[in-house]
Amino acid sequence: MIDLSKIQKALHLDELEKIRVELLGKNGVITKEFKRMKEIPNEQKKEFAKNLNELKNKAMELIAQKKSQLEEQALEEQLQAEKIDVSLYSNRSEIGALHPVQMTMDKIIDFFVKLNFSVETGPLIEDDFHNFEALNLPKYHPARDMQDTFYMNDGMLLRTHTSPVQIRTMKKQKPPIRMISPGAVFRRDYDLTHTPMFHQVEGLVVEDKDKVSFANLKFMLESFLVEMFGDVKVRFRPSFFPFTEPSAEADISCIFCKGEGCRVCSHTGWLEVLGCGIVDPNVFKAVGYENVSGYAFGLGVERFAMLMYGINDLRSMYEGDLRLMEQFK
Ligand code: PHE
Repeated sequence: MIDLSKIQKALHLDELEKIRVELLGKNGVITKEFKRMKEIPNEQKKEFAKNLNELKNKAMELIAQKKSQLEEQALEEQLQAEKIDVSLYSNRSEIGALHPVQMTMDKIIDFFVKLNFSVETGPLIEDDFHNFEALNLPKYHPARDMQDTFYMNDGMLLRTHTSPVQIRTMKKQKPPIRMISPGAVFRRDYDLTHTPMFHQVEGLVVEDKDKVSFANLKFMLESFLVEMFGDVKVRFRPSFFPFTEPSAEADISCIFCKGEGCRVCSHTGWLEVLGCGIVDPNVFKAVGYENVSGYAFGLGVERFAMLMYGINDLRSMYEGDLRLMEQFK
């Protein structure tokens, strides 16, 4: 008798295929039985053929069943072997963060770029003309003491503010001008609220047709300060800068005590945040501009960053302590 039970015992697809050939292939045992048909006496032929066909169909059915079972099993094995455990730990690399000074600078730049200001840069090592002379600070002018300067041996100096970029831009371009200039500046200062290097953003607007007024300046800076600090009050106090006349300093209502008075605002309710004014005619004279008017402003980026992000020691910005930076991810 032909044994079909081994179909059930096949462990792999190729083993099953071997069994199929043994049974149903060209020389398979069942195929050979069919060839025996002619030897069978006529009266038994019908019975023999019926049994043989049944056997063949049974074999085919069992093989097909076993085949799909083994295929499923193979797929399962493959899935198990290739499984990825997404919850496993890997060597993740640390993601860095922008420095708060950079973030603040980007925010400031964004505001003015939207209003069509260009972003200008100038050298950190300046000459006396651009840093002082052209800004209405002639030699021996007492206001030079306001910005204690690092001088180099060759008479050059580290710029003490970003205002020289006003001069460079006006010499390079014709009015009208709308520019800001972010960058590093240097002064001989080191204490709780001063570092020898810090950052400023300068702003300059010059018109040749319409007259620029203090109202334009006020509107621009008020909008800017509200954008940066949220719902604050802004006030302007008379001040002095050699390159602007009249000059002012802008204060915002203290963002920590909402103007009530606290340690940060020295109990005044106000925080000084920038200097500004109408460009002094002597500055226009120095760059050869005639019949123009303009306003300018300058601010310290670190001071903005400290107020915006609640950092209370300026020096911590430059100590490189990663624990500070990690808070800004
Ligand atoms: N340059 C000034 C400073 O460094 C800031 C300023 C710029 C003030 C432009 C008025 C106009 O303090």
